[in-house]
Amino acid sequence: MSALSLFDLGGQTAVVTGAASGLGLAIAEAMLDAGANLVMSDVDGPQLAAAIEGLRPRARGALHGVVTDVADAAQVDALIDTALQRHGAIDAVFANAGISAGRGFAVETGQLEHVDLAAWHRVLAINLDGVLATLRAAAKPMKARRSGRIVVTSSIAGLRAEAMSGYAYVASKAAVNNLVRQAAVELAPHNVRVNAIAPGPFATGINGGRLRLPEVAERMKTYIPLGRIADTTEIQGLALLLASHASSYMTGAVIPVDGGASAR
Ligand SMILES: NC(=O)c1ccc[n+]([C@@H]2O[C@H](COP(=O)([O-])OP(=O)(O)OC[C@H]3O[C@@H](n4cnc5c(N)ncnc54)[C@H](O)[C@@H]3O)[C@@H](O)[C@H]2O)c1
Repeated sequence: MSALSLFDLGGQTAVVTGAASGLGLAIAEAMLDAGANLVMSDVDGPQLAAAIEGLRPRARGALHGVVTDVADAAQVDALIDTALQRHGAIDAVFANAGISAGRGFAVETGQLEHVDLAAWHRVLAINLDGVLATLRAAAKPMKARRSGRIVVTSSIAGLRAEAMSGYAYVASKAAVNNLVRQAAVELAPHNVRVNAIAPGPFATGINGGRLRLPEVAERMKTYIPLGRIADTTEIQGLALLLASHASSYMTGAVIPVDGGASAR
């Protein structure tokens, strides 16, 4: 068997949350290019519809969308049920949806005494509860079928202190990393693998699109060993690896894609 065929997702089904833009959209592209049937979901219906329209020419298999707020576990259960009804089985699920908690203690408004508890709970509801809901919903049919891969979009902000990220964000991503390890160990005997991607800065709409500003890009040149902010397509290689049989001996891993930032 050719090693390249390990990455082939032809005839398999993938689900991506937060797929209407940014990293989720790039992951969705990778799934389509590998031949998967794809269910894209997002809380933003119009943006999701536009994203699906844009990707339609790339699809070799089925492609459709389900509007889902990952902070509502019942909606996540319904998303997984819909994917199962349409495709019979789910091979890969990306728990990718997430939001920023604003800027960190590098600016005064990001310091501890300014942490707003309503915002804290909103970030945790999406970034942590949303991942738990997705893991839980995806694990059930995968366990029953004794096959599946779950991939969580975490962050290098969950690996260590991060002056530029808000408190709720770093806490949610650190919690997600151990959620991934915990689920990976439980699900390994069922042949269900769970891994996380920990991105560094990627030019997406997160945090009001700050990472797309030229002055932020300039500052990152000194912070990132590779000297630049990533393009969203630079998540695709690892996403494809973790979603496919090419990563058959990997589970419980939290893997940085960060231009070397976490190596400092
Ligand atoms: N961009 C970066 O630099 C970076 C770095 C590390 C980690 N991440 C993580 O990557 C993931 C994707 O972020 P992004 O940078 O692509 O941002 P983005 O804002 O471009 O995309 C996030 C998507 O998630 C959707 N979303 C928001 N709340 C949702 C909810 N409650 N339910 C379902 N969908 C929801 C949004 O509508 C949007 O389409 C997040 O988990 C984020 O924390 C991003």
